[in-house]
Amino acid sequence: MSEVLIVSLPGDGIGPEVTHAMQHVLEAVALKYGHELSVEEYSVGYAAFEATGTPLPDETLEACVRGPAVFLGAVGDPRADGLTGDMRPEAALLKLRSELGCFANLRPAKVDEPLVAMSALKDEIASGCDMVIVRELTGGLYYGTPRGNEGGRAVNTLVYDAAEVERVARVAFELAGRRRGHVTSVDKANVLEVSQLWRSVVSGLAKEYPDVRLEHMLVDRAAMELVTNPARFDVLLTENLFGDILSDEASAMCGSLGLLSSASVGGKVGLYEPVHGSAPDIAGRGIANPIGAIRSAALMLSYSFGLQSEAEAVERAVALVLAQGLRTADLAGPGCRAASSEEFANAVAEAIT
Ligand code: IPM
Ligand code: MN
Repeated sequence: MSEVLIVSLPGDGIGPEVTHAMQHVLEAVALKYGHELSVEEYSVGYAAFEATGTPLPDETLEACVRGPAVFLGAVGDPRADGLTGDMRPEAALLKLRSELGCFANLRPAKVDEPLVAMSALKDEIASGCDMVIVRELTGGLYYGTPRGNEGGRAVNTLVYDAAEVERVARVAFELAGRRRGHVTSVDKANVLEVSQLWRSVVSGLAKEYPDVRLEHMLVDRAAMELVTNPARFDVLLTENLFGDILSDEASAMCGSLGLLSSASVGGKVGLYEPVHGSAPDIAGRGIANPIGAIRSAALMLSYSFGLQSEAEAVERAVALVLAQGLRTADLAGPGCRAASSEEFANAVAEAIT
């Protein structure tokens, strides 16, 4: 028996709905496999700002740093539009990622066979696609200084040093070694010096991984290949902003942004978040797709707790429920049964074996 202790940050918008749905599934896993689950909930994002005057209260950050694993629902709220700098909900998330030292963000994008028809791509292009985006998460334009917006002129800075590139590239090579042995490193080396450094560091590291095939690809072409020939990708390695953009694009291939999960690793504490945002337009209606959250919990079981069979059980249960035709509103289609977030999560919980 293991103790599964999770720091849970439901956050804003649909965050609380998908987090609580995910929790039902974890409870079922704990029951079935005889683990002790404890979930400590803390506030983050606009919800925290409203309650305490800051989007990342000290007690939240302290709990996260204690770990061992943090689950975050979503941050962001239209009411925060007037806020700037550290008061923005998104700033809380960026600070959390960087304080936890989670420099590698893994975003699996695999087309579920029962959902091929929901893909934004033609069936024959989407079917069978299975990739992981490895997004650098604690550097690049999101963090570079100077930054600012004053007197009609704004600046952000793109900066990476070789060590930052190498450590995230290593995660991509290791992962590719356990998958189909192919890394596509994405950059804009025809224009950006940072990308030229990125390319040379990644090429140098590739020598340590003779069994992994490395290809470099410019980001504009990668965006095109993602919708014309996504089957060519296994592991996509990208800097922070490119990975943010390409992962939303990959979600259209899968059928819904609500499907994608992520694990941020590299620090002492793992951070797990669905790729989707707070979706204020559907918040509070109980219709959000909890699959991204549930699959993030599966990644957490595997990466933070070493509970591989349990993680696989969650994945199997999601696949089974999808195969039975149960769908949240974002995936509704002919012949499907509509489910609320909670109904979907309960069905997954019941399918845990
Ligand atoms: C994501 C989100 C965040 C990001 C936002 C909310 C800051 O879009 O996790 O993809 O840009 O990293
Ligand atoms: Mn994003």
